[in-house]
Amino acid sequence: MTETDLDGRVIVITGAAGEIPFAVARLAADAGARLVLSDVNTDRLAAQAATLPDGPDPLLLRQDVADPVDALALAAQCDAAHGRVDVLINGAGLYEHRPLGALDAASWRRCMAVNLDGVFHTIHALQDLLSQGSAVVNIASHSGHQGSPGHSAYAAAKGGCLR
Ligand SMILES: NC(=O)c1ccc[n+]([C@@H]2O[C@H](COP(=O)([O-])OP(=O)(O)OC[C@H]3O[C@@H](n4cnc5c(N)ncnc54)[C@H](O)[C@@H]3O)[C@@H](O)[C@H]2O)c1
Repeated sequence: MTETDLDGRVIVITGAAGEIPFAVARLAADAGARLVLSDVNTDRLAAQAATLPDGPDPLLLRQDVADPVDALALAAQCDAAHGRVDVLINGAGLYEHRPLGALDAASWRRCMAVNLDGVFHTIHALQDLLSQGSAVVNIASHSGHQGSPGHSAYAAAKGGCLR
């Protein structure tokens, strides 16, 4: 798929208020895509979306990717607005520095819930809207290939969502 192929495509981006995901959203908007943008931080998402170029209004949604109910709500809104998803970009992420001695079970679970479970919940909820030609892009990390001190949970989660 080339950049020009994005014209009119329906692109869903989670964590879309974030630096990297929003940069992708801007490129997609420039290319004429129809955007569905979600994040837990809806204030930041709205502020970012207001800076997008003129075009079809993006659909802005609150989604905690760790919550499967939010993923189902996202799917329902996408279905109602567009009836399909051409590209899903799983951009939501949580990066914490936590040396092993300070990594408790709750921190581990939260990291997994956002960085790994969240990818599953969103793909799973949108599966009926994705088709053979659709693309799913998980924004993983080099950490998924090689961990680093203080990031063992993040590395495990990102490793889990490499293709
Ligand atoms: N910045 C880097 O150097 C780097 C390197 C490799 C991978 N990544 C990955 O790229 C992605 C974007 O990172 P970024 O640097 O733009 O970070 P960022 O912090 O600017 O963006 C992350 C976004 O995810 C959102 N988010 C956090 N928890 C969420 C949740 N539970 N549900 C929904 N949204 C949630 C945040 O509100 C934020 O808008 C992340 O997945 C990150 O792990 C970043």
